[in-house]
Amino acid sequence: MNYHLGVTRAPSSILFGVGQRHALGRVARQHGTKTLVCTDERFADSEEMRDALASLKDAGVEVKVFSSTLPELPIESIMACAQTHANSKADSVIGVGGGSCLDMAKFVALLLTHKGGLSDYYGEFKVPGPVIPVIAVPTTSGTGSEVTPVAVVADNSRDLKVGVSSPFLIPHSAICDPELTLSCPTSLTAVAGADALTHAIEAFTAVAHEPTPSISGERVFVGKNILSDYYALNAIREISASLANAVREGSDLEARTRLMLGALFAGLAFGSAGTAAAHAIQYPIGAITNTPHGLGVATLMPYVMRFNLASRQNAFAEVARAMGADSGSTQALANDAIDRVTMLFSEIKIPVTLAELGVPADRLEWVATQSMSAARLINNNPELLDHAGVSKIIAAAFAGA
Ligand SMILES: NC(=O)c1ccc[n+]([C@@H]2O[C@H](COP(=O)([O-])OP(=O)(O)OC[C@H]3O[C@@H](n4cnc5c(N)ncnc54)[C@H](O)[C@@H]3O)[C@@H](O)[C@H]2O)c1
Repeated sequence: MNYHLGVTRAPSSILFGVGQRHALGRVARQHGTKTLVCTDERFADSEEMRDALASLKDAGVEVKVFSSTLPELPIESIMACAQTHANSKADSVIGVGGGSCLDMAKFVALLLTHKGGLSDYYGEFKVPGPVIPVIAVPTTSGTGSEVTPVAVVADNSRDLKVGVSSPFLIPHSAICDPELTLSCPTSLTAVAGADALTHAIEAFTAVAHEPTPSISGERVFVGKNILSDYYALNAIREISASLANAVREGSDLEARTRLMLGALFAGLAFGSAGTAAAHAIQYPIGAITNTPHGLGVATLMPYVMRFNLASRQNAFAEVARAMGADSGSTQALANDAIDRVTMLFSEIKIPVTLAELGVPADRLEWVATQSMSAARLINNNPELLDHAGVSKIIAAAFAGA
């Protein structure tokens, strides 16, 4: 444990629990009388949306709705929303939906506050100041975007998805109501939950940096630290205890609740510690295969863990304990952690290899080269990662070795 550094980046308030969605009107009213809701067609047409609009109206908040958010967030939809609502004078922006809708709300709040093009803000610490307060209401248990300082966009002028990372992008409030996830189909529950587990494991095993007083001003993601470890281990505990049950029996509200809590903890963990190799390699894989972010990171995770085993034995042993192991040597427990993650992902039908995910054999070298361009993630990996190391992970994950 790195007791010398602790950083948590989090919203001003997090409301968690069954029924908390009904607090939306009151939370929005704290910021003023006008709000913009960013969601997608599915949610816009739901009973829960009608409840949300009623809650806002009852609180005296006037609402505009943008309901054309698309999965994986193409840039055109962000610009369309920002342009349509440029003069809305919204006092808050509410994102309701999966990670795509939450990231949409973050980007739109940014563009309504600071103007300019989105690419002006790509990278770290480029957002010049606070943005219109964002209220994030997740309907999947996965991305953790409701609490993180990052949003991710698919910009067609670039080969890979790209992120804006800034503490100013952290939502002002997160409202996490597990009942909103009851409608998630089996595959979405599995992919989003696996995404959350990879967030927690990569945060827990990330590089630990020199704990200087300036570090949280120099890096948005400061690496493994005592506070992110706390959230990561609890995320691993909650997700591993609930994910298979939530996938098997979607109406199991206890499993849904624990899974949502796990995804929230995982967001709080990686929101300061950052993620690493599995995320770096997923970006080019997502671009080639058009598969969801969570599916790619989950497919890669056991291979990345195997690659990192030597430098993170103690941490992996703790992961195994958090997943239910109770005895064994550190080495045996560390191996057990990889087996447990592999078995859990197999149970919820995550593809076992990159070949199964649809990556063509002749693109592996391109994937390796592109992965290396995600320097922030590559450098956050515990085992030193160069081109040869990335290629080794990709080759193993392609062949299932
Ligand atoms: N900002 C962050 O910290 C962060 C972290 C990880 C991933 N992401 C981003 O999040 C996005 C992925 O988010 P996601 O996995 O939540 O999926 P998503 O938001 O892309 O949604 C996928 C599909 O699930 C549907 N859906 C959402 N909630 C549902 C529900 N309750 N019932 C039925 N269908 C539902 C949506 O309508 C959509 O069709 C990607 O763009 C990824 O890059 C962001």
